[in-house]
Amino acid sequence: MKILRLRLENFRNFEDTALDFTDGINILAGNNAQGKTNCIEAIYFCTCLKSYRVKREEQLIRFGKEKAAITLDFSIGSREEQLQILFTKDKPKEYRHNGLVIPRLRDLLGCFQSVIFTPDHLNLIKEGPQKRRSFLDMALCSLDLQYTDQLLNYQKILKNRNALLNQCREDPSKKEMLFIWDEKLAEAGSYIAKARQDYLLRLDEYAKDFYRSISKGAEKLKLLYLNQFTKEQAAREEFHSLFLNRLEKTREQDIALGQTVSGVHKDDILILLAGKSMKYFGSQGQIRSAVLSMKLAEAECVAERCGHYPILLLDDILSELDAHRQKFIFSKMEGHQTVLSTCELGKIRKKGDKVFFIKEGKVVRERVSSSGSGCID
Ligand SMILES: Nc1ncnc2c1ncn2[C@@H]1O[C@H](COP(=O)(O)OP(=O)(O)OP(=O)(O)O)[C@@H](O)[C@H]1O
Ligand SMILES: [Mg+2]
Repeated sequence: MKILRLRLENFRNFEDTALDFTDGINILAGNNAQGKTNCIEAIYFCTCLKSYRVKREEQLIRFGKEKAAITLDFSIGSREEQLQILFTKDKPKEYRHNGLVIPRLRDLLGCFQSVIFTPDHLNLIKEGPQKRRSFLDMALCSLDLQYTDQLLNYQKILKNRNALLNQCREDPSKKEMLFIWDEKLAEAGSYIAKARQDYLLRLDEYAKDFYRSISKGAEKLKLLYLNQFTKEQAAREEFHSLFLNRLEKTREQDIALGQTVSGVHKDDILILLAGKSMKYFGSQGQIRSAVLSMKLAEAECVAERCGHYPILLLDDILSELDAHRQKFIFSKMEGHQTVLSTCELGKIRKKGDKVFFIKEGKVVRERVSSSGSGCID
């Protein structure tokens, strides 16, 4: 999969700009606040079909304008495709695939695959479980349509069950109706649990190897799916019955709190190094290597599932990594298209890279590097 061209019309601080990408490394260079991340946000929008930065999408429309558009031309093998997202103030956004309006969002999920790595991901290990669940959900939603459906379904059921729990405190006869929601929650939840478990098994395999290469075999990285039902592997049916048992056990507590205390909305990823939790014992350097391994593993999982390697989007991440880790990530970019942003071009450029100089939402200059310097030479 390769991006051919990205056109941004009234998107963030871009008025009307087109970038023709090269197959290898594309560098968005410029000072702070010029539009580098905006550009990466637009590309990743085409994978997730939502912004990873803001909830209110009207913030994506250029100040003072009514409409915005992202147009992405990309190729899969010899096939060329176009994805277009049109934003209009106070109206739902519109999607077009190869010129045709696509009414259902789910028909476009997985159409364009990219993996993003930003400095914010470096907090993945130290922060709370919400961050790691969202890492799992972002990855799985773009790979598995049914996962997206089940996740949305689960969130709705959970809301309904919690509303009923609150009513049960006032009117205990309503307890009888909880069984209906328990069954529905276990049905959707068991799909999510199984998908997360399977995904983490694959992610662990790749991440472990990457970590071994970065740290030169010093310690072993292990990623485990952590849920309230079991630490062992389970089939979907087992998850279903374990989930129901758990809901039954915590029912009185749920009613007292007016909240469902158990379920996949409490899941986490346990990240171990040499058997010890990285969250509590990992050094800065170890954490950076582990996150880098997880992100590269995420790209491998996409390639395994979809049959083509995704586009790597690296937003200002290289300045966060030391020369050794930079060198490692560059070795993994070989043969894959990458879009990266930086304020310090001198350090990373190498022969053949295409550099776009971004200033105030415009590409003021672009050129293919004829020489390079820094960590990768
Ligand atoms: N809807 C919008 N309309 C116009 N400009 C916007 C809009 N949203 C954000 N911007 C502008 O975009 C700029 C930020 O762009 P971006 O986040 O891409 O910067 P950057 O080049 O990545 O900078 P840094 O190196 O600091 O990360 C800011 O000047 C901001 O005011
Ligand atoms: Mg930025």
